[in-house]
Amino acid sequence: MDTIHNKPQNRFVAVLFFLFLTFSFSFSSAAQDGEKLFKQNCAVCHSTGTNKIVGPGLEGVTKRVPSEAWMMKWIRNSAEVIASGDEYGKKIFAENGNVQMLQFPQFKDEEIKAIIAYVKNPPIEVVVAPVKPVTETKKQPINPLAIIFGIVAVLIIVIAILRRLRHSLKNLQNKNEGVGTETRYSAWQDFKNWMSGHKRTVALFTIFILLGLLQAGWDSLKSIGIYTGYQPAQPIAFSHKIHAGANAINCVYCHSGAEKSKTAGIPSVNVCMNCHKGISKGPVTGTAEIAKIYDAAGWDPAKGEYNKPQKPIQWVKVHVLADFVFFSHQQHVVVGKQACANCHGDLKTMTVAKQMQPLTMAWCINCHKQTEVPGMKDNPYYESLHKKLAEKFKGQPITVDKMGGIECAKCHY
Ligand code: HEC
Ligand code: HEC
Ligand code: HEC
Ligand code: HEC
Ligand code: HEC
Ligand code: HEC
Repeated sequence: MDTIHNKPQNRFVAVLFFLFLTFSFSFSSAAQDGEKLFKQNCAVCHSTGTNKIVGPGLEGVTKRVPSEAWMMKWIRNSAEVIASGDEYGKKIFAENGNVQMLQFPQFKDEEIKAIIAYVKNPPIEVVVAPVKPVTETKKQPINPLAIIFGIVAVLIIVIAILRRLRHSLKNLQNKNEGVGTETRYSAWQDFKNWMSGHKRTVALFTIFILLGLLQAGWDSLKSIGIYTGYQPAQPIAFSHKIHAGANAINCVYCHSGAEKSKTAGIPSVNVCMNCHKGISKGPVTGTAEIAKIYDAAGWDPAKGEYNKPQKPIQWVKVHVLADFVFFSHQQHVVVGKQACANCHGDLKTMTVAKQMQPLTMAWCINCHKQTEVPGMKDNPYYESLHKKLAEKFKGQPITVDKMGGIECAKCHY
């Protein structure tokens, strides 16, 4: 009687399994790579549509550049292409205000090809409109791990069916030949036998799974940094809807830094006490939340005096800009005359403060390209600059980018 694992057949299943695995793995990652590479390296300056960010929108770009080979050279080192006297290169360089594109000499041919393929055929573009709050419409891509697990599950079922079939065929054959029936081992015993006979396959398989896990981990790290919709719980249930909405308290009453400094700031507990010495009860949370203010201020409402030490309230920061970026509230609120809501949404309707905008570079730059500088005309500090710009751009609206608002050094230290 032969042993239960008939080598050639098992090997066939293993090979089939691997073909499947490799195929699905490389297929899903090739399709995603171009998109990922583009978003990581190019999207700060290029859209896949027609709108310009720093560089031109790349819709239909493969039709206007001299050739795909030209594009490969350009992406690796555009300065070299321009220096070589290339006509098209010189032309777009001049058209884009002599802003030099970043260089990507590290890219392999297939990586650039993946980017080009993605640019040729991108999904419908989500344009970041600076004034309207963007709602998150990003679709979660399918995790390659999920695909692998799905395939594994299907294969286990197929193998189980094949095993059963083989077993009954074998028994039928044995019966015809007059040999006794074959003992059936448990599937687990079978699997162990198979594993010990295929150490290399098992090792390879393990490596695949580990790589998959690694990629999933890496992907989740990548999305750190963009927090549209971030809405942390706060130590006191402070409601903008009640204060700025129902009671129409001016934003700058509490965020007094917004008009005179880089940061808007969060009010100290003393500011709360200006009103809450007298207001100990709210319409929604009664006395519970306001009692926390008293606790932080060291206020004893029964005696009507401060008789305990103050403890600052540990508010959780909602907006966190990368610390290599310079941003000033005063510049935007006073000179730029930008409403708080343009960047923060309508807090008058929010019970819990929430980040409404992505705070990415493309978001800043998009607004700079569309927004005029309204406070410039009547601001003596800008008078001569404004005159010069008005002459230079002959009646065109003077948007922030025209006065240098998309120069790298304006935002990056
Ligand atoms: C720092 C901004 C920046 C980054 C990042 C950037 N580019 Fe550019 N790109 C430009 C600018 C600006 C131009 C216009 C030409 C010039 O001024 O040099 C340009 C031009 C191009 C062109 C020619 C466009 C046309 O209309 O003919 C292509 C293609 C291109 N970039 C591809 C890419 C790809 C692919 C990446 C990512 C790997 C990338 N760029 C990253 C700024 C950038
Ligand atoms: C009565 C005081 C008060 C008023 C009025 C007020 N806020 Fe606030 N604001 C706070 C406090 C306290 C916090 C911190 C707790 C929180 O995030 O909800 C805060 C948080 C914020 C945040 C999130 C800050 C972060 O951590 O990133 C923004 C944005 C904001 N306020 C904007 C506004 C705007 C815009 C208005 C006017 C429509 C306004 N606030 C009116 C007290 C106030
Ligand atoms: C042009 C966009 C823009 C406008 C207009 C704007 N903010 Fe902000 N705000 C930001 C950004 C970006 C941050 C994150 C800053 C950081 O993390 O350094 C922020 C942070 C804040 C914070 C958190 C504390 C701080 O200062 O970092 C508060 C509070 C705030 N803004 C309130 C306001 C109020 C009130 C107004 C209107 C008077 C306003 N903002 C107008 C973009 C804006
Ligand atoms: C300019 C006056 C003013 C300031 C300053 C002020 N509040 Fe209030 N607060 C009010 C008013 C008015 C109410 C609503 C009372 C009512 O409707 O009965 C209120 C209600 C509340 C409530 C109860 C809301 C509910 O859900 O029932 C809390 C909690 C609260 N405030 C927290 C704070 C905190 C924290 C600060 C400081 C960051 C602060 N307030 C600063 C005027 C103020
Ligand atoms: C809602 C539109 C809007 C958004 C969003 C915006 N800005 Fe601005 N920004 C302006 C306007 C308008 C001015 C012109 C006011 C001025 O010159 O002070 C300006 C000016 C600036 C300046 C001064 C430029 C110069 O030439 O002096 C800097 C720096 C700046 N913004 C940084 C940022 C950063 C960083 C972000 C993103 C985190 C951002 N801005 C997002 C509208 C915006
Ligand atoms: C109007 C402001 C502004 C200008 C101008 C600007 N940046 Fe940025 N940049 C930002 C902000 C904001 C971020 C942070 C984005 C984030 O955290 O997602 C950023 C991030 C970056 C990063 C990190 C990569 C990333 O996407 O997080 C690089 C690299 C960069 N900028 C390069 C440049 C170069 C090169 C220029 C000049 C062509 C430039 N920036 C001009 C605001 C600006």
